[in-house]
Amino acid sequence: MPEAQSQSPVRLVEPTAAAAAAAEGARRNVVGLQSVSKRFESSTGSVQALENVSLDIRAGEFVAIVGPSGCGKSTLLRILCDLEQPTQGQVQWGHHGSHSRPRLGVAFQEHRLLPWLNIEDNVCLPRLMQGKASAQDMERARSLCKLVGLNGFEKRRPSELSGGMRQRASVARSLFTSPELLLLDEPFGALDALTREQITADTERIWMEQGFASLLITHSISEAVHLADRVIVMSARPGRIAAEFTIDLPRPRTQALGSPEFGRLCAEIRAKLEL
Ligand SMILES: Nc1ncnc2c1ncn2[C@@H]1O[C@H](COP(=O)(O)OP(=O)(O)OP(=O)(O)O)[C@@H](O)[C@H]1O
Ligand SMILES: [Mg+2]
Repeated sequence: MPEAQSQSPVRLVEPTAAAAAAAEGARRNVVGLQSVSKRFESSTGSVQALENVSLDIRAGEFVAIVGPSGCGKSTLLRILCDLEQPTQGQVQWGHHGSHSRPRLGVAFQEHRLLPWLNIEDNVCLPRLMQGKASAQDMERARSLCKLVGLNGFEKRRPSELSGGMRQRASVARSLFTSPELLLLDEPFGALDALTREQITADTERIWMEQGFASLLITHSISEAVHLADRVIVMSARPGRIAAEFTIDLPRPRTQALGSPEFGRLCAEIRAKLEL
């Protein structure tokens, strides 16, 4: 992965940014879910997707959610994106519900890149959707491509890239708005194990550099332990929080992969999962 350039319009902060933001975050909530429930009603019946879910995410914190298929993980993320409304409970943005909604970045399981745009235009899409991108915006898009390891591929179309490269482009696009809260819904789920490990390590590095809060949804316990300060385990039907684990392994965690402590945490989390 290339180093970020000092002249880059992508504002990089010291590697301690995540730690500093997390220390500040001990006081400041980015978002709080309070007793959130979600019921879907349809002609074929109703589904209680979420029941009484309460969760705080603090500034600079990395939270991961693991849980069986259908336990409401994506529904929870869609509620945070304002794509769904809770049937009960509420979402409070900011400190003590000051309603200062943070800038959000989102990356989904499918890369959702537009096939007719090249990679830098795709990364710039949040701006293009508002109108025209400036030269500075395009420069920022190119810097983000570099940040995620797509240097030299900026002018390619998504169809010319590998699956891993497309996911990297999707992550670059999610960073375009300089998010205060990054939402990741299994963005690396479809990748082979080696590529996934590399992107996970790169994601940790970028998070440590930039210090945003992050919510990752994943089926991979080791990915959750690699990245998260806290791992939330959900159970299904209805989707509830079943357990919570604090992960205080030193960062970056690449060297801890395969250590006894890492394995012990993964085993404890697996024991709480209804697979
Ligand atoms: N728009 C909808 N209308 C009706 N039911 C829905 C809708 N969206 C989700 N559901 C239901 O809500 C439940 C939770 O779905 P959700 O997609 O949040 O699960 P998930 O934990 O993300 O699963 P996976 O790990 O497979 O992605 C499921 O039973 C699903 O069928
Ligand atoms: Mg899902």
